[in-house]
Amino acid sequence: MPDPYASITEVAPEVLEILINAMEVRAADPQQKAMRETYLSWLDLPEGARVLEAGCGTGAVCRDLARWPNVAEVIGSDPSPIFLAKARELAAEIPNVRFQEADARSLPFEDNAFDAAIYHTCLCHVPEPERAMEEAFRVLRPGGHLAVFDGDYATTTFAVGEHDPLEGCADAVITAFVHDRWLVRRLPAVVKSAGFSVTRFDSHGYLQTSEPDYLLTLVDRGADALAGWSRIDATTAEALKKEARRRVESDEFFGFIAFASLIARKPV
Ligand SMILES: C[S@@+](CC[C@H](N)C(=O)[O-])C[C@H]1O[C@@H](n2cnc3c(N)ncnc32)[C@H](O)[C@@H]1O
Repeated sequence: MPDPYASITEVAPEVLEILINAMEVRAADPQQKAMRETYLSWLDLPEGARVLEAGCGTGAVCRDLARWPNVAEVIGSDPSPIFLAKARELAAEIPNVRFQEADARSLPFEDNAFDAAIYHTCLCHVPEPERAMEEAFRVLRPGGHLAVFDGDYATTTFAVGEHDPLEGCADAVITAFVHDRWLVRRLPAVVKSAGFSVTRFDSHGYLQTSEPDYLLTLVDRGADALAGWSRIDATTAEALKKEARRRVESDEFFGFIAFASLIARKPV
């Protein structure tokens, strides 16, 4: 099954609803907020900065950026008109954010138009991320800042021991929803070949044990994917979801993903 985010304009409305909910659940997670604030604080934005978030989905990161020190204007772009409609609704009270339909590999913006460009869990869903980084380079002004934050999804695990059946859900959800689970490992090379100078590249551990709201959405989507591929039947998929919740109740749930951030600049 291909990553639905990679061909988002062809995805059925009921799947989009699941993705909209998962994006907002993840964005509200305190650990996710802390990771966002950490890497955004590493950007040295000039006063009055004009910032692009490419692949903004429902706009959670744009809403944060709009209130960020020195930011005057945020433009969120995404290929999905349905995500953008939700983003506009959720940001209705925020005056300095607007949204525009666009594919990150061919942005409808002029050269040197932005002071910063952010790709927050977007690039691993984009086939040919090299083209997206070339576009980032084009639309940033000389000295402009690039921030890429993504899951190092090859690290995703729900296992608490050998041959743990929940690990199948981890592998399945990444196969089903991530175009390139290895992207983070080659990110510095991709960004450098687009012309950027990499300032820093960091790992951020994301562990959920109690109240694993976001990772339970991944367990469920992994179990549903396995059933959809006929690897297991619907009863077994429900049993895997129930097992994850049993572990939460008994303090035995362990879910982990290493995220990574990369900060770079377009040379002056
Ligand atoms: C996991 S969501 C992340 C959304 C948002 N950045 C966030 O963190 O809440 C991935 C996003 O990438 C978008 N996307 C997929 N292919 C894209 C492309 N070619 N160019 C730009 N965005 C794309 C999807 O539509 C989706 O909104």
